[in-house]
Amino acid sequence: MALEIKDLHVEVEGKDIVKGVNLMINDGEFHVLMGHNGSGKTTLAKAVMGHPSTKIKAGDIIFNGQSVKDLTADKRAKLGIFLEFQAPVEVEGVGFVNFLRAARESTSGSTVDMKQLMGEIRDYTDKLAIAGGVIGRSLNQGFSGGEKKKAEILQMAVLKPKLAILDEPDSGLDIDAVKAVAQSISEIYKKQKMGLLLITHYSRILNYMEPQFVHVMAGGKIVANGGKELIQKLEKEGYESFYNGK
Ligand SMILES: Nc1ncnc2c1ncn2[C@@H]1O[C@H](COP(=O)(O)OP(=O)(O)OP(=O)(O)O)[C@@H](O)[C@H]1O
Ligand SMILES: [Mg+2]
Repeated sequence: MALEIKDLHVEVEGKDIVKGVNLMINDGEFHVLMGHNGSGKTTLAKAVMGHPSTKIKAGDIIFNGQSVKDLTADKRAKLGIFLEFQAPVEVEGVGFVNFLRAARESTSGSTVDMKQLMGEIRDYTDKLAIAGGVIGRSLNQGFSGGEKKKAEILQMAVLKPKLAILDEPDSGLDIDAVKAVAQSISEIYKKQKMGLLLITHYSRILNYMEPQFVHVMAGGKIVANGGKELIQKLEKEGYESFYNGK
């Protein structure tokens, strides 16, 4: 068992956003979370990661048998939880490679072999078609929208988490980039046998991936669970049928 979200209620700025979510993601399972804008997907992801903007009002988050809901984001990262942000922030003065090195040292707890790390970085800059020069800059500084998203997948490749939550890794990507990102995510996921929760609005990225479970969120709750067939239903009918409880 990897992650168990139990009747989770989350508040942001005094407002109830997540209203009783139950979700279990075992090692090696690939889950997709969809839902209308503002349904609470990002808030749920941030709460699992321990983002300080989220306040857990009730329920629990169990990771590998241990409650993590009172741990800082840093401690949760060390346990192997990774979150790709929907809108990654720019950090001035922190070189991207140095950032990756520090993050890997922090999560693995051991000194990094720079030659090996650079090999891994090069491998995924090729696979993700990240232009030369980009990784020489400060973290996300002056990165295009797509480069920021690709840089987060590169982070995931280097950090080797046990559970990754990817918040719209396909947003703002061109057609070729969606394919490259999907293939890289699949490769890392298979290599690491990790749990994966992918948040997306569109089925295009899933043309290159095989999720086992699909969940639909509305109004802070998970309102439907199923397999890939749910995505086709969504594309045909939109989210409205889910509000009506059909
Ligand atoms: N800091 C905040 N202050 C007030 N309200 C917030 C804050 N952060 C999020 N919310 C509200 O919480 C609700 C859920 O937001 P969230 O970002 O979780 O939605 P989402 O499902 O990820 O949407 P999208 O598909 O557009 O990314 C929204 O109504 C949003 O306005
Ligand atoms: Mg969101």
